[in-house]
Amino acid sequence: MTEPVTLADHERLARECMDPGAWAYLFGGAADEITLRDNCTAWQRLQLRPRVLRPLVGGHARRTLLGRELAHPLLVAPMAYQRLAHPQGELASALAAAVMGLGYVLSTQASVPLEEVARLAHGETARGPLWFQLYLQPDRGLTQSLVARAEAAGYEALVLTVDAPVQGSRDQERRSGFQLPPGVVAVNLPDGVATAAGGPGLCGGLAEHAPTWEDLVWLRSVTQLPILLKGITHPDDARLAIEHGAAGVIVSNHGGRTLDTVPATAVLLPEIVAAVDGHVPVLVDGGVRRGTDVLKALALGASAVLVGRPVLHGLANAGATGVAQVLRLICDELEIAMALCGCRTLDEVGPAQLQPRS
Ligand SMILES: Cc1cc2nc3c(=O)[nH]c(=O)nc-3n(C[C@H](O)[C@H](O)[C@H](O)COP(=O)(O)O)c2cc1C
Repeated sequence: MTEPVTLADHERLARECMDPGAWAYLFGGAADEITLRDNCTAWQRLQLRPRVLRPLVGGHARRTLLGRELAHPLLVAPMAYQRLAHPQGELASALAAAVMGLGYVLSTQASVPLEEVARLAHGETARGPLWFQLYLQPDRGLTQSLVARAEAAGYEALVLTVDAPVQGSRDQERRSGFQLPPGVVAVNLPDGVATAAGGPGLCGGLAEHAPTWEDLVWLRSVTQLPILLKGITHPDDARLAIEHGAAGVIVSNHGGRTLDTVPATAVLLPEIVAAVDGHVPVLVDGGVRRGTDVLKALALGASAVLVGRPVLHGLANAGATGVAQVLRLICDELEIAMALCGCRTLDEVGPAQLQPRS
């Protein structure tokens, strides 16, 4: 293939160069992968309404989020074990996001030390926000030490993932017999703690450690960092998140990796935006593969969008350069869509750019 010109091209190239087991782990979804597929098709089904002859002079796609400016309303979603895709792993993806002035969220299960990622990203003067994704650990002492390390390293917010107290049934991955290769580990965690199981209770005892709203209250008491909740799909949970002091919510079904047959995030987003009613920013991820998808998410009321798997495709193809290419494609397509919809800035993007659902 010649130079990839779409995210789909990057996906095809990545598939050719990757080990099938790693592919199944990184890109598979839960069960029948219905949510995984729906996430993409739901954005495609929304239709845009162009406007013509509107002034576009001085336009830009910048967005301010929790007091920080992004060059485009995009962040890299937290994804575990990125060294499966490229030896430089999270260092490469974080560098690409930073160079482009976009946000980056580092996973608790990152395969490089969180301090190294922060040092690298901080070296880029035009960088966007750097956030740390947190999985609450069964041991509060361990959670607190992770938070303290993230604070000390200069992460600017915590993204508390709440939709995966247990792992989904990822059949493609199980069928492949995938095992993490030697040398790719969650280096920021002492070995095995995140997966400690065994004993009575649901899911072999894992559900005994499932976090609750009380844990969010506790987390707020041990950090000054703003906390966004990732994995909100129900408007009542969005309201509870605000009541418990969340600084933002991320509408996400974990990219279809946890519970299958959850509705697509493009379908869920309007209900959550209505429930949040402007109190905190609402972000969204899942199935975003085009700049037009980003525009549609913003038109439905999202403040920004997180991109997952396409970043790993770019990473597998060409490290930081590949990630930068992927992010550049989405940003370029977003700017084209803005111009063709007659939107000079993102503040002009709203329901008027979408064909109402029949
Ligand atoms: C390989 C992989 C690993 C992931 N690891 C995490 C994780 O550690 N923490 C988390 O909150 N979400 C994780 N996610 C979910 C992503 O943050 C995000 O919600 C999802 O990938 C968005 O959908 P998309 O891949 O269709 O863009 C992971 C997703 C993938 C594909």
